[in-house]
Amino acid sequence: MSYLVLARKWRPQVFEDVVGQEHVTRTLQNAIKTGRVAHAYLFTGARGVGKTSAARILAKALNCINGPTPVPCNTCEACREIAGGSSMDVFEIDGASNTGVDDIRELRENIKFPPIKCRYRIYIIDEVHMLSTNAFNALLKTLEEPPPHVIFVFATTDPQKIPVTILSRCQEFDFKRIPALLIQERLKGIAESEKIKITDRGLHIIAREADGGMRDAQSILDQVISFASA
Ligand SMILES: Nc1ncnc2c1ncn2[C@@H]1O[C@H](COP(=O)(O)OP(=O)(O)OP(=O)(O)O)[C@@H](O)[C@H]1O
Ligand SMILES: [Mg+2]
Ligand SMILES: [Zn+2]
Repeated sequence: MSYLVLARKWRPQVFEDVVGQEHVTRTLQNAIKTGRVAHAYLFTGARGVGKTSAARILAKALNCINGPTPVPCNTCEACREIAGGSSMDVFEIDGASNTGVDDIRELRENIKFPPIKCRYRIYIIDEVHMLSTNAFNALLKTLEEPPPHVIFVFATTDPQKIPVTILSRCQEFDFKRIPALLIQERLKGIAESEKIKITDRGLHIIAREADGGMRDAQSILDQVISFASA
């Protein structure tokens, strides 16, 4: 059986599981509760702090059969398809490999159509700062008049590279580096569930080494486990 790395196995599936980003998750949950969801979000912050995870949870929250709801059920067809990456209405696009104006034109063509099964078509564009200037210009037109059923979530580690014209049309959330203590607590929970014996001191060292990144912390824990069991 192939081994699923801890970082993937332990991806947060509800907003409550996203550690250290309450300023983001609470605001998103309130927006959903009060029906004030924006049509474009920009998630900024360091690597491995929860941007993609939060984007997927938002997509589930909006498209869940019980939704829009601040707490997606994770069992309905929409939630399962979004979590598994097979939803026909939620797209994850890697900005680093779809940088051109043609890619954005194609996206603009597709956006016109209503969602196939869900309430919203959601475009999660990762590394959005990698888009070319022409691509940004093409995107801008869409952001000015987005169809009501479309929501964009842009994610980037490098917001300085995004044109202000785009920035001003997005609601921006800055994901923080996660305090070492919170990382340590999360690692402890994971270690317990995985039946891995490790001291608090060991977890503390890993948490500190990760420098605010939860993915890095989980990768180090993976390494320590393979080293210790070799
Ligand atoms: N705030 C968090 N709370 C709990 N787990 C987290 C958090 N942030 C990251 N993780 C863990 O790290 C993994 C990667 O997180 P995610 O993909 O959300 O990071 P990201 O911010 O999008 O990083 P990148 O900039 O590299 O795309 C998740 O699957 C999860 O295991
Ligand atoms: Mg990401
Ligand atoms: Zn659901």
